[in-house]
Amino acid sequence: MTDRSFSPVLLVGAGRMGQALIQGWRRANAFPFSDLLIRTPSQKPECDAAAAEGAALNPPDADLANVRTVVLCVKPQKWREIAPAYDAVLPKDAVIVSVLVGTRAADLEARFGGRRVARVLPTTGVARAEGVTSLYAADPEARARAAALFAPISAVVELEREELMDAAGAVSASAPAYLYAFTQALEDAGVSAGLPVEAARTLARGTIASAAALMAESGAEPADLIAQVASPGGTTRAALGVLTGEGGLEPLLRDAVAAAVKRAQDLAG
Ligand SMILES: NC(=O)c1ccc[n+]([C@@H]2O[C@H](COP(=O)([O-])OP(=O)(O)OC[C@H]3O[C@@H](n4cnc5c(N)ncnc54)[C@H](OP(=O)(O)O)[C@@H]3O)[C@@H](O)[C@H]2O)c1
Repeated sequence: MTDRSFSPVLLVGAGRMGQALIQGWRRANAFPFSDLLIRTPSQKPECDAAAAEGAALNPPDADLANVRTVVLCVKPQKWREIAPAYDAVLPKDAVIVSVLVGTRAADLEARFGGRRVARVLPTTGVARAEGVTSLYAADPEARARAAALFAPISAVVELEREELMDAAGAVSASAPAYLYAFTQALEDAGVSAGLPVEAARTLARGTIASAAALMAESGAEPADLIAQVASPGGTTRAALGVLTGEGGLEPLLRDAVAAAVKRAQDLAG
């Protein structure tokens, strides 16, 4: 039986991630949008589309009395300002599911009147119902509601300790951007090697998209997939010698992930 213990759902904030969640829930048919309430200061296309399917757009406080799960999807700098107004009107047994990077569960609990909190860090792939979500919650009911809400749109990775959320975000929520940066760099390298810009774009983007799909579909280890492409003494091995050499991808990504973790810790305050 489908677990709908999370609904009605209140989405607070419909920026890039909030709209990606709406898209994903629609695509996955995760729950009827008559059970979705959205608070957004400005008009957003995805919110209008959800409203056309029954979602309540900017409902008055009185309509929040039955909300079971709040998905908090504003910037880390914003949530403290808006929490007191929600604390005053939400039911005491509502669960707060925070999408915020860095912000600690204990801070959220305190500002939301002791309500139970789950923390999630989804990737933007949730828009296609193909994301990955890191999840931490000390409370079993909060964990169950967050898992039920995110499972239709992502693979959910539950973490036992909250400290791990910063590392999880650094290798997951932030990582689509690393891949896009890699793609851009590969295109630029192609142009430097003499390719026309358009050819470099098509070759780099198409190759990365199909290689990622192959990795997902085959379930093979990256090392085995590398072996399929790189024969000893060949051109790919020559390139991998640079990528895996001193100052190559491994130390570079270790530093990049460490920088993202440090920033999450700074945001936690
Ligand atoms: N983007 C990602 O890949 C990603 C991944 C994991 C986690 N996150 C987390 O997700 C959160 C949102 O990120 P984002 O990228 O979606 O940022 P964003 O695009 O800036 O969205 C934030 C939204 O919050 C809205 N907002 C501001 N004040 C509000 C209020 N009082 N009530 C309701 N909504 C309000 C803003 O509305 P207006 O547009 O009308 O000003 C804006 O659309 C952040 O905490 C981030 O750490 C993001």
